[in-house]
Amino acid sequence: MNPPSESKGDTADLRFYGRRKGKPLKAARQGLIEELLPELRIAVPEAPLDPRTLFSQPVKSIRLEIGFGGGEHLARMAADNPDIGFIGAEVFLNGVASLLRHVHELGLKNVRVFNQDVRFLLPHLPAGSFERISLLFPDPWPKARHAKRRFVGPENLKEMQRLIVPGGEFRVASDHPIYIDWALLHLVGHPGFAWTAKGPEDWRTRPADSTPTRYEEKAKKQGRTPVFMNFRRVSP
Ligand SMILES: C[S@@+](CC[C@H](N)C(=O)[O-])C[C@H]1O[C@@H](n2cnc3c(N)ncnc32)[C@H](O)[C@@H]1O
Repeated sequence: MNPPSESKGDTADLRFYGRRKGKPLKAARQGLIEELLPELRIAVPEAPLDPRTLFSQPVKSIRLEIGFGGGEHLARMAADNPDIGFIGAEVFLNGVASLLRHVHELGLKNVRVFNQDVRFLLPHLPAGSFERISLLFPDPWPKARHAKRRFVGPENLKEMQRLIVPGGEFRVASDHPIYIDWALLHLVGHPGFAWTAKGPEDWRTRPADSTPTRYEEKAKKQGRTPVFMNFRRVSP
């Protein structure tokens, strides 16, 4: 990726492999990028950032969604929980525009957007910043030679462990068998996380307080079964 000029330290050599742009945006969405995004956008921090200061009203806790895609899940969660602050990170411009449309239509006041690789934000945030982090249908990078590109991995899990408050949740969902195995391999037995599933119903069923994402709908239409892996952050 092109590291933002403000970024520094360990993040300087991070590379993003996904898509940044799709079809040209329609005028209304381009308008939201120009007018609403600057109000909601989180810039790459130059100093430690207390995420509570990002919201214009006090929030009782904060959640992060990494790679929110079209933003339908993030927007629904934000509408259902107006006293919680939501930070969404997404690199794909068309996805950001789609989230902005939801935010605008629903009149949401509790959403902020980091429209870059989330790894440029995380190191600047204090420990225990989030009560929940969601990583829903991350790019699977199924080829073994691309395994290092998968978001779940030792480095990012160190950050997830640091940033989720003890007792908080890390929600990972995937419809890709290779990614599901990979996520479980890294997370089950990890000292910072406890898998909350007691049996198959728990990983076959989306958490009751959430809504499907676009990728979940697509997976189901194409006959793939989504798996919901929820972990509680525990103190080692
Ligand atoms: C397969 S899509 C899933 C989108 C959405 N969560 C859903 O379920 O519909 C994965 C998304 O994660 C985004 N993404 C991947 N790595 C990211 C990163 N490091 N920071 C921010 N977004 C990222 C990609 O741009 C892509 O839109």
